[in-house]
Amino acid sequence: NSLRPIRSPRGIPLLGHTPQIPGTNPVEYFGELSEQFPEGIYGMDIAGIEQVFVYDPDLVAEVCDETRFFKQIEKTPLAHVRDYAGAGLFTAHQHEEEWGMAHRVLMPAFSQRAMKAYYGQMLEIAQNLVGKWESREGQPVNITDDYTRLTLDTIALTGFGYRFGSFAEEELHPFLNALLESLVESLRRSQELPMMTKLRKADDKKYRANIQQMQDLVESVIKERRQGKGTGEDDLLGLMLEATDPETGKSLDDDNVRDQVLTFLIAGHETTSGLLSFATYSLMRNPHILAQAYAEVDRLMPGDTVPDYDTIMQMDVIPRILEETLRLWAPIPMIGKSPLEDTVIGGCYELKKGARVNIIEGPLHTHPKAWERPQEFDINRWLPENRVNHHPHAYKPFGNGVRACIGRQFALTEARLALALVLQKFKFSDMTDYKMDVKEALTRKPGGFELNVRTRQEHE
Ligand code: HEM
Repeated sequence: NSLRPIRSPRGIPLLGHTPQIPGTNPVEYFGELSEQFPEGIYGMDIAGIEQVFVYDPDLVAEVCDETRFFKQIEKTPLAHVRDYAGAGLFTAHQHEEEWGMAHRVLMPAFSQRAMKAYYGQMLEIAQNLVGKWESREGQPVNITDDYTRLTLDTIALTGFGYRFGSFAEEELHPFLNALLESLVESLRRSQELPMMTKLRKADDKKYRANIQQMQDLVESVIKERRQGKGTGEDDLLGLMLEATDPETGKSLDDDNVRDQVLTFLIAGHETTSGLLSFATYSLMRNPHILAQAYAEVDRLMPGDTVPDYDTIMQMDVIPRILEETLRLWAPIPMIGKSPLEDTVIGGCYELKKGARVNIIEGPLHTHPKAWERPQEFDINRWLPENRVNHHPHAYKPFGNGVRACIGRQFALTEARLALALVLQKFKFSDMTDYKMDVKEALTRKPGGFELNVRTRQEHE
């Protein structure tokens, strides 16, 4: 018998590992633990649920085999996100009819052609960001908050014809606070016994109020469209209200449309804002790469040239900066999978049907088996001649298989454009010597990341 046990950190009898899971940044902690288990897999008992963590690229390759594993929702934080995102694309169970219907109806809205159609609106919002920073000449700006304004306003306008107008406000939109608190609460609930959740009555009340607030906003987005105030008929909302699923001939019901709108407002902004923030941070740490980025922008967009879609598509350095940022700072740090049947991975680790298996992006994306000088921010890894040598399963920032990110092209187009415009206009200085302070709430972002922005002068 060649089976081997999946090793675990030391726990406490009866309570397992629950007491040692930190209340904040649990995934960072799971990443740190990975160093104790060079075999690329370990297990823990958290709130009575056996969980397995994998990050060896060959083990991950098996877990990404969709004939053997599916996207796990049950017993994960996403089960709680369903309290507000329902059977939206992100949180739907694979077997739910809603997933396939929405996937088929919405795919055309994410084609390359669709990106070209959104470009004008993406540009308009990115120019709002530039306008705001121009008015803050020499002052510190909260980089992450402004990228969040950008990404939220972009998905709302392109997807639903709805204007948040975030750049006109000093405070972030109340929707964002309600969302952040809800995500943190979902994460917490997934790591405690249901009995503990029941005892936290005040938190539960707040959670419900936050959900109500988000759903009210979504109702008003849909209402505005129904009253004909919105723009664009073939955007996400247009498709959801009009299109029928080619396979079932049915259209999405009203509750599902509401769940999808909220899903896109969430999934469509949190992550891209994190990507842009981590990219900016990485550029500050790597002046030689920042110089390459400036050179590219100055070549393709000299002076005040406003880039068009084709200019953005011609870029080479900026896309590689984004890819390398997603390697070292994947905004979604962990994804959940589960075996369809009892199985064995790596030839020796037994997993039971329905077991909770987590792919941890951090240790996977820096695994020495797949990456040379894993901690180094090196955009040359993404040159065509180098990328062919990559391990095929050591990079999963957008997830895997049919449940991979539908918004990948959208995010990358938006992020390329925003970074290009920002670099065309500004230089940054880090007056406070910022130390990375990751904040996790299902996705992760830098907390309290401020830089001073100045407009670039002609001779620079
Ligand atoms: C799914 C990452 C941007 C919409 C996912 C998943 C990942 C991911 C890892 C799979 C999650 C899982 O397996 O549990 C990212 C990153 C982004 C990004 C890193 C930005 C850099 C976007 C944008 C949109 C979007 C801009 C929408 C416009 C979605 C949706 C799903 C998804 C709807 C669920 C797809 C399905 O299960 O059918 N994303 N995402 N994402 N993403 Fe993204």
